Amino acid sequence: MKTATACPEVNTSQTATLNRIVNDDCLNVLPELAARSVNFVLTDPPYIARYRSRDGRTVLNDDNDTWLEPAFAEIYRVLERNSFCVSFYGWPHADKFITAWRKAGFRIVGHLAFPKRYTSSERYLRYQHECAYLLAKGYPQMPADTIGDVIDWTYSGNKLHPTQKPLSVLLPIVETFSSPQGVVLDPFSGSGSSLLAAKMLGRNYLGIELDAEYHAISQQRLRAAD
Ligand SMILES: C[S@@+](CC[C@H](N)C(=O)[O-])C[C@H]1O[C@@H](n2cnc3c(N)ncnc32)[C@H](O)[C@@H]1O
Repeated sequence: MKTATACPEVNTSQTATLNRIVNDDCLNVLPELAARSVNFVLTDPPYIARYRSRDGRTVLNDDNDTWLEPAFAEIYRVLERNSFCVSFYGWPHADKFITAWRKAGFRIVGHLAFPKRYTSSERYLRYQHECAYLLAKGYPQMPADTIGDVIDWTYSGNKLHPTQKPLSVLLPIVETFSSPQGVVLDPFSGSGSSLLAAKMLGRNYLGIELDAEYHAISQQRLRAAD
């Protein structure tokens, strides 16, 4: 597993500033954010899978779950009342994710499946889908135009990050579950895919990424979209 190389000059008191990506541990940054200051969380945390891509890239904190419950407790706190969180997760540890979400206070209100046209790995099955849960804090209003819970996956190419999520699936999620003036938070932002989706839709965003390399990539990616 890689070791964290967070920038020492990060000033967490600045993290309330919008449209930026902080290079730090979200367990340091989230407690600095005001309660109920975020409108929507779209996140793709480590799957606790000790994943290693074919070219040898790994994901920080993918070898432990110590961050899971504290991170989602904070995510719940910073979300506005009656709002949503969409979280990808690794199905082998669905029990751990569900326990953390429920302990934080979330209600599970939907499940999204993303069928792939290719096989990402093969063992007892050919593994051909990703999944995410739709979580509610309180009782949000129904979206004006909702979406189906099965969204076709397109291969991102994983050029920027070993588990890079495609914009084509993130865009409809952000559009449906965030409000136009709201802040979209991703505390495990990797190469910044969810933040770019938010930016493309005119939303404010806040990203947190522990790995200095992916943080730099995401900064560059978001800047290129100006
Ligand atoms: C599954 S990846 C996200 C990939 C992202 N969705 C993309 O499209 O590039 C999870 C990310 O969370 C980061 N991470 C792990 N633990 C973290 C923590 N405590 N705080 C902030 N980021 C963390 C990892 O470095 C990794 O880049």
